[in-house]
Amino acid sequence: MRTYLVTGGAGFIGSNYIHYMFQKYGDGIRIINVDKLTYAGNLENLKDIEDRENYTFIRADICDSEKIMKIFEENDIDRVVHFAAESHVDRSIRNPEVFVKTNVLGTLVMLNAARAAWEQPDGSYLPDKKFLHVSTDEVYGSLEEDGGYFYETTPYAPHSPYSASKASSDMLVKAYMDTYRFPANITNCSNNYGPYQFPEKLIPLIINNALQGKKLPVYGDGKNVRDWLYVMDHAKGIDMVQEKGRLFETYNIGGHNERQNIQIIHIILDTLREMLSPEDPRRELVTEDLITYVEDRKGHDRRYAIAPDKIRAEVGWYPETSFEEGIRLTIQWFFEHEDWMRNVTSGDYQKYYEEMYRGK
Ligand code: NAD
Ligand code: TYD
Repeated sequence: MRTYLVTGGAGFIGSNYIHYMFQKYGDGIRIINVDKLTYAGNLENLKDIEDRENYTFIRADICDSEKIMKIFEENDIDRVVHFAAESHVDRSIRNPEVFVKTNVLGTLVMLNAARAAWEQPDGSYLPDKKFLHVSTDEVYGSLEEDGGYFYETTPYAPHSPYSASKASSDMLVKAYMDTYRFPANITNCSNNYGPYQFPEKLIPLIINNALQGKKLPVYGDGKNVRDWLYVMDHAKGIDMVQEKGRLFETYNIGGHNERQNIQIIHIILDTLREMLSPEDPRRELVTEDLITYVEDRKGHDRRYAIAPDKIRAEVGWYPETSFEEGIRLTIQWFFEHEDWMRNVTSGDYQKYYEEMYRGK
């Protein structure tokens, strides 16, 4: 039975990926989830699978080399899927250091531990061992409003401390592939949305605020463009790249779903009004009057857009969920998980929100 080591599996995309993998492979795989449980990691995300015999959670920091090495020594790991990272641009602007520690040094620790476990004395690797590094399209920088896409060959030009740290981690993975023939792939995905996303990111923040009649903060002119992908389509892409992709290659993942932030907000408001029953008192709170233009993010990238030609041609991946459907699924999930939202927005979140949006 194949054993997966998933890092950051208690976060947004990692937990969706674990759900996807158990839905797809059932008892045919084993998953070890290694997560530090930062503010973004939440074991509630995995409640419905935590009792499975083929699932293990280990609380560990990926920067803790000894602990990570030990996990590899004690388990015969076949696949690594490396999600663990600090992931929010606004936080990186305020406090870049932890981004470099986790995203750069943590990735180095993961690479060293996997290499130590898998490399043979003659420099070859044990058969069928693979490492997948989950990255972002933000490493490519920003596109003009009127054209162009990010290809796998687009030069890296990160602007935020977050994207600079992810770019550095990608470079380390590339260096390990080139220098040690380390068996890896890199995926660079566009913005994800869906269940379990922490409400510091645009879509869950807007849903949560709108349902409470709170201001909806729009940075700058609201016309920055992001290319949104439903998280389960990302999970499917990661699995397909690991199984069908060529080793040592990078694959961009995205579904040609570019929207301005302000358009996203209007779609969310329209969909909320459509989905809330007329008797629901929250329905009248959800109005365009909540939209509030605030000071722009520093160094705000104007547009991201992925060209998914390579993953479609080589791997056969394509997104299955339209944006209209994905947004409805996401909102429905938030309706059914009010406790989840209450739990993650109590305590530290309040402090975060006040500090981040103070004066905005
Ligand atoms: P997230 O912030 O929701 O989750 C990150 C997880 O990593 C959390 O569970 C956290 O506890 C864990 N973690 C953080 N530091 C750790 C450490 N030092 N040791 C062990 N665990 C640690 O992030 P996400 O949105 O799920 O993103 C996951 C990955 O996907 C990241 O690498 C991110 O760069 C990448 N990505 C995200 C998006 C997006 O739109 N969210 C798009 C493309 C790529
Ligand atoms: P975000 O979800 O933080 O993702 P990223 O910065 O990684 O793309 O932000 C998505 C877009 O929404 C980005 O252009 C910034 C903007 N934004 C707002 O306008 N208001 C907000 O409160 C947030 C969190 C983001």
